[in-house]
Amino acid sequence: MNKIGVLTSGGDAPGMNSAVTAVAKSAAMYGIPLVGIKRGYNGLLRKSTSLFDDMEEMRLDTVLDIADMPGTYLRTARCMEFMDPHWREVAANTLRAMGIGGLVVIGGDGSFHGAEHLCKLGIPCIGIPGTIDNDLAYTEMTLGYDTAVNVCVNAIRAIRATSRSHDRPHVVEVMGRHCGDIALTAAVSTGSEIVIVPEVRWSVEDVAMRLNRQLAKGNSRATIVVAEGSWESMEPFDMYTFLNSHGKKCFEGEPISAERFASIMKRMCGMVEARSTVVGYTQRGETPTARDSAFAFEAGHLAVRLLRDGISNQVIGMRNGKVFYMGIEMALQAKREFNRDLYELVNNM
Ligand code: F6P
Repeated sequence: MNKIGVLTSGGDAPGMNSAVTAVAKSAAMYGIPLVGIKRGYNGLLRKSTSLFDDMEEMRLDTVLDIADMPGTYLRTARCMEFMDPHWREVAANTLRAMGIGGLVVIGGDGSFHGAEHLCKLGIPCIGIPGTIDNDLAYTEMTLGYDTAVNVCVNAIRAIRATSRSHDRPHVVEVMGRHCGDIALTAAVSTGSEIVIVPEVRWSVEDVAMRLNRQLAKGNSRATIVVAEGSWESMEPFDMYTFLNSHGKKCFEGEPISAERFASIMKRMCGMVEARSTVVGYTQRGETPTARDSAFAFEAGHLAVRLLRDGISNQVIGMRNGKVFYMGIEMALQAKREFNRDLYELVNNM
């Protein structure tokens, strides 16, 4: 292996920089030059006027500074062109022309599909799971998930304090795309009373009934944690008619949101007030936790070792608390198992 490349792709995730640092340290240890590719696969498509916009030689003095920085130094993007075989050829040719004999791809499932295609074009690739969503079934953790959960936990704890002061419930929306893991772990960790996830169908009426149960027990500061993807697993509900007939102006066809959901709960449960917060991108832009950084370091080092040893077409993950690797194709076929038990436990209060 005479040169390797590294890129970060998809939504940024805390720990991506730690992984790049680890790749650089490991490459330096084995005397392999490293090229950082900017903005995910876009940096391989030769669309920029200057090569320096797309690539950068990664030196130890640069990367040591970014190890625990939030965000991703290499920048990131979702690259729609990569769906097209023509652009994948362009990318593979760019790598060959640069003398890059192996690529470390840090990203989520979309990024791994890209790596799988590049492998088929003869470019050895290793994937490191980098996404806050924790939606890759083959691994127990993805880079950024632990940090994102901790951001949500801190936010919910603060929200529960003010909710208690004002005796009012709160709806908190967290990220995760189609995966409810952030919501569920954050709910469990904060003692939140209700959690709503995309994996389980739910209805507005049922949540209102559960909230009413809390109110009847004298708990007036219940927290409803909603995973952002849950709006799609909601049973049909005529928000327009309900809110307008309860004195709250709402537009026809308006999508439901955390704020609207809090308004509905307030009216269905006869409460004086209910509030909402969307934790949002703070989950992605935080400094990585020690757990995420440590995983990133091990994964980065293993990725370089595999490429050096001529092993490719693999993704790195965590199993039984240990870092391991397996074939990309098999990893992408693994089926996610949602922790239904824990979900029931939170909601059965
Ligand atoms: O996949 C990570 C993630 O943060 C999801 O949780 C969220 O739905 C999505 O990315 C947001 O993407 P964007 O940065 O394109 O708004």
